[in-house]
Amino acid sequence: MEHALVTGGAGFIGSHLVDRLLGEGFRVTVVDNFDPFYNPAIKRNNIKLHLNNDNYQLIEASVCSLNDMRTQLSNKYDVIVHLVAKAGVRPSIQDPVGYQEVNVQGTQNLLELAKELGVKQFIFASSSSVYGINPNEPWHEDNHVLLPISPYASTKVSGELLGHVYSHLYGIRFIALRFFTVYGPRQRPDLAIHKFARLILKGEPIPIYGDGSSRRDYTYIDDIIRGVYSAMGYRSTHYEVINLGNNQTVGLMEMVQALEEVLGEKARLEFLPMQPGDVSRTYADVSKAKSLLGYEPSTDFKTGLKYFVEWLIDKDLCY
Ligand SMILES: NC(=O)c1ccc[n+]([C@@H]2O[C@H](COP(=O)([O-])OP(=O)(O)OC[C@H]3O[C@@H](n4cnc5c(N)ncnc54)[C@H](O)[C@@H]3O)[C@@H](O)[C@H]2O)c1
Repeated sequence: MEHALVTGGAGFIGSHLVDRLLGEGFRVTVVDNFDPFYNPAIKRNNIKLHLNNDNYQLIEASVCSLNDMRTQLSNKYDVIVHLVAKAGVRPSIQDPVGYQEVNVQGTQNLLELAKELGVKQFIFASSSSVYGINPNEPWHEDNHVLLPISPYASTKVSGELLGHVYSHLYGIRFIALRFFTVYGPRQRPDLAIHKFARLILKGEPIPIYGDGSSRRDYTYIDDIIRGVYSAMGYRSTHYEVINLGNNQTVGLMEMVQALEEVLGEKARLEFLPMQPGDVSRTYADVSKAKSLLGYEPSTDFKTGLKYFVEWLIDKDLCY
């Protein structure tokens, strides 16, 4: 039985990955500290079913303490999927040092652990934000001009580079997956789709930063999980950086309209200045993911939104 160590396995993407891995018969160890960036009760809820599975182990610890992890993690894991991060662009401007600590030092700690435990496969959650204000769309991994514009984005660039060092020196296969705005059931409440949907349902105005012309490549969670799972089994080369997006960009106002349709409610808009650190567009070229991982995103935006809203209205909105 293969054994996966998943950091951040109580979060949005992590809990979906654990669903898949347990379903595939993996043994799964999760490290998560139930960070209060958003209500930890949501994360407890995400893992409720996992706790009943004999192949699942939860370790409540911070990736910032290498010693804690050394004490609590001693197995020979087949693969590490490192999803822990302080996420979010705007809050990283308020707390750049905290982001550095968790996202860079934490990643280095996991890589040290991989080295010490002899783990040979390491998947890293990177982000579309590393491209920053790169004008060459759609963004392709071979375009090495990264122009990050937030502390969060720069921590993800650092993680990718640290991975190259450990891959080169210690033969750890390192795959950085650049996720493009992930959405679906359990989406983080700070992300626009989730935040807007709740405000619309409460009849409150939604903040539109800038003139509404920004665009995002939204990627449905099941497509992301298929990409991550595929990367876990990738063996051909020792270091890769791969976009996982949807290869379609949706305008902010199109997103709002689609939400209105799916929710059956009209949104009230409040226009506010563009936020520093936010990029105006994201757009993924996914040809590399297709050729290396057989990745084929298959959930169109409207369908994905319906699944998200079905999940949301089933939940307690006081989250
Ligand atoms: N959701 C997206 O759209 C998106 C896009 C690009 C990249 N990413 C990256 O994907 C990963 C997962 O994102 P998510 O949306 O699921 O976020 P999330 O916040 O839901 O999950 C992250 C998990 O990490 C845990 N965590 C935070 N700090 C920790 C620490 N010091 N020690 C141990 N655990 C800690 C949190 O408690 C949480 O459960 C992150 O690395 C994020 O940067 C996400």
